[in-house]
Amino acid sequence: MQPAFWLECWQQAYPGFHLDQVHPLLQACWSRVYQPEVHQQVLVPLCGKSIDMMFWRQRLPVVGVELAERACRDFFQEQQLAVTLSKTNHFQCYDTDRLSLLQGDFFQLSRDEVAACQLVYDRAALIALPADMRQRYVQHLCQILPAQSTVLLISLEYPAEEKQGPPFAVFEDEIRRLFAGAQIDVLAISNRTGLGFARRAFTTSSLVEKAWRIQLP
Ligand SMILES: C[S@@+](CC[C@H](N)C(=O)[O-])C[C@H]1O[C@@H](n2cnc3c(N)ncnc32)[C@H](O)[C@@H]1O
Repeated sequence: MQPAFWLECWQQAYPGFHLDQVHPLLQACWSRVYQPEVHQQVLVPLCGKSIDMMFWRQRLPVVGVELAERACRDFFQEQQLAVTLSKTNHFQCYDTDRLSLLQGDFFQLSRDEVAACQLVYDRAALIALPADMRQRYVQHLCQILPAQSTVLLISLEYPAEEKQGPPFAVFEDEIRRLFAGAQIDVLAISNRTGLGFARRAFTTSSLVEKAWRIQLP
């Protein structure tokens, strides 16, 4: 997906992928990935204005990365958080207590910027991207993260021939290929058939979300 596609989505205040509540699989699985003695910060790539960041912020400091200025501004306004603005080479930074949003291109994110992020939360980031970009996304993530980081990934499965993404269907074999060398476990499965994806209706013959714990080498 090109940046223009996402900026167009963000012309609406509430794009179809935005969820008005904390993701149920996050609530069910967070305690099985979060290790307070190890994890200092959580990275939320392609974060939009997800309320899940407020959930994480109660537990550890959050670093979100998001392309769209509107998503970042709306997040702080809707959550009624005071914000301090600054700039780096590649990002406009929005900071508040225990939460920073880096507005810009995820692929410009550097190792230094995520040096304390041994935990990653991916909801609708990997599945937002077409196959070639998914590979680039995981490669970049694995290049910049500290060794032995943990990823909590929420994936989506549906018969790919029934619908064009995004969101894209991403199955176990691809997850295992993308994160080769990692220890990968499924933590929870949620059958969403007929229930839609966030605010979007989904008429595929099946729809399943899965939560994965991915322990990088
Ligand atoms: C499907 S949405 C998911 C948002 C969020 N994770 C959630 O659960 O609501 C994907 C988000 O990624 C952002 N995005 C797409 N490409 C990006 C990139 N290269 N760098 C940073 N953000 C990007 C889009 O603007 C959009 O907000």
